[in-house]
Amino acid sequence: MLKGKKILLGVTGGIAAYKAVELASILTKNGAKVKTILTKSACQLVNPLTFKSITHRSVSTELFNLENEIEHITLADWADLIVIAPATANMIGKVASGIGDDLLSTTIMATSAPVLFVPAMNVHMYSNRVLQSNIEKLTRLDYYFMEPESGKLACGYEGKGRFPVITEIKYHIETFLNYSQDLTDKDILITAGSCRENIDPMRFITNHSSGRMGLALARAAHIRGAKVKVIAGIVQDNIPEYINALQVENAEDMYQAVTAEASEHQMIIMAAAVSDFTPVKTSQQKIKKTDSLTLKLKKTKDILQELGDNKQKDQILIGFAAESEDLEKNARIKLKNKHLDLIIANNIAVAGQQDTAILILGENITAKFSGSKFSVAHKILDFIYYEK
Ligand code: CTP
Repeated sequence: MLKGKKILLGVTGGIAAYKAVELASILTKNGAKVKTILTKSACQLVNPLTFKSITHRSVSTELFNLENEIEHITLADWADLIVIAPATANMIGKVASGIGDDLLSTTIMATSAPVLFVPAMNVHMYSNRVLQSNIEKLTRLDYYFMEPESGKLACGYEGKGRFPVITEIKYHIETFLNYSQDLTDKDILITAGSCRENIDPMRFITNHSSGRMGLALARAAHIRGAKVKVIAGIVQDNIPEYINALQVENAEDMYQAVTAEASEHQMIIMAAAVSDFTPVKTSQQKIKKTDSLTLKLKKTKDILQELGDNKQKDQILIGFAAESEDLEKNARIKLKNKHLDLIIANNIAVAGQQDTAILILGENITAKFSGSKFSVAHKILDFIYYEK
């Protein structure tokens, strides 16, 4: 999603400026062409040469220089996307007030490319009402903002203000480069991950699902403006702070959580690998070792079957089918039996992987997509909203 894309990285003088080096590196390694502008304060914290060595492209710091007189125009025109990371309250304030008194603020003023701000600062500075009203104003004017994360800050405070995890910034950049805010009127409930059925206080039954496909769908839809709620079982990656998520442990909890709010959503995507069986009895004490052990399991409730049997008018129900053989045939049986609008079928071999290959099946529909789970998530959303 980044190959050949021209990204102008603006680095301003927050302590997270050193993390912008890693961002520049990841974008470059993924095929983007990255040029950098550092403000004067950023140069106090990081060296322009570091960016030059990593991106192998121009790094600019001055509005006026003898070699490239109108750089603010050439850079503004060159960029497919401008990313300000980290963005200080000062730079956000300048852009919101129409001030262009250095190369970066002037370039932002001169561009017609989308601009993404990644603010990072002290918790009180971030909650400052002037800054917040500047962010609101710029958001209304179609500038994009990523919310900072919460946690321990460099200044010693604890709270919201941390520079987001680089991969999350990458997901935002990939989306803003390739998609518009086209899902702002959509509302989706997405389940993700595996379930854990306890055998005793120490042991449980689970499966290989990592939750990556469900979370990729949630990220992609959220960044494109949709209202997303995630009900997650056990997932291998951290759920991003910007996603509204509820975590559950076992199939019964997931059943309760999903059925409690299913009626509130226009669309439900069941990407979770819900356990089909759970122990008839969970031992309160750790089961002692013996020569052999027979576990008696009972069937769990099929959440999607119940949603399909009681489908509400106009609600879109999408299931996943994890198969090890006869992919299309088995998925089509689930599509029909569970009364789904679409089913997304994949081979179980993709569980836990970063990449996937899927088949989307509807009554008279077959489509195939492959690639990173995030890029496939976007293609699934496109398919659902534009081609179904
Ligand atoms: N599903 C569910 N509740 C269950 C089991 C599955 O809601 N107790 C949902 C899954 O989230 C998925 C779809 O049903 O969207 C198909 O799940 P899958 O595991 O592929 O198939 P099963 O219906 O469980 O059948 P089988 O395991 O026999 O293939």
